[in-house]
Amino acid sequence: MPLVDGGCNILVLKRGAAIHAEELEALQGESVTLRPPQESDVEVVYSWDRDPELAAWNGRSPISISLSAARRDYLARWEDPTVKTFIIEASGEPIGMATLYDFRRDGCELGIKIGPGNLRGRGYATEAVTLLLDYVFDTLGLGVVRGSTLAHNDRMQRVFEKNGFKQVGDGSILSRYDNRRYTELFYERRREDQRP
Ligand SMILES: CC(C)(COP(=O)(O)OP(=O)(O)OC[C@H]1O[C@@H](n2cnc3c(N)ncnc32)[C@H](O)[C@@H]1OP(=O)(O)O)[C@@H](O)C(=O)NCCC(=O)NCCS
Repeated sequence: MPLVDGGCNILVLKRGAAIHAEELEALQGESVTLRPPQESDVEVVYSWDRDPELAAWNGRSPISISLSAARRDYLARWEDPTVKTFIIEASGEPIGMATLYDFRRDGCELGIKIGPGNLRGRGYATEAVTLLLDYVFDTLGLGVVRGSTLAHNDRMQRVFEKNGFKQVGDGSILSRYDNRRYTELFYERRREDQRP
């Protein structure tokens, strides 16, 4: 479990990595804003987690727990200082979610989804990832952001490429969505790398 030193506002992870835990307001871009989740987001997040298409892209099954059980899980996760969750907003409405997690080796892992299918392909995730990279490198002072996606997820690969990520490996993943094996691609973006 992480130890939180409230005095100097530095969150100390057990393995020795230290990340600054500045009180996060919002990351403001041109089309999207990334802000901390609130209790009023529970229902829309639940609807995304029950969406079979979104689950398939993540190699998971849609969740089957009740809304009240999901609420408990979400509120606990959103308070967990070792995971940073952001609601992506466009035109004042929640349209997706981004998560920074697995903080180690001078970096973290990034996950992202745009919930409504008709809002994909409009550049929202590209801009959200750009904001998150600036936050990880400039505010948290970390050196690398890692990500992965299925080899047939062309949109996510474009989002990585447009933000200067490089493919650093691949692997095989058993999807819990359909119990089939898929190729997974691993990406990394280092602070010193440039966007294309
Ligand atoms: C993957 C995802 C996060 C990307 O977000 P997005 O807002 O749709 O992405 P953007 O619009 O910023 O960029 C998408 C890029 O893919 C391209 N694209 C759009 N639809 C595409 C399609 N069907 N096939 C291939 N490329 C496509 C777009 O043209 C754009 O590239 P360009 O700027 O070079 O033209 C979003 O589509 C999503 O949530 N998908 C479902 C869940 C998911 O896959 N999550 C990631 C799991 S690792």
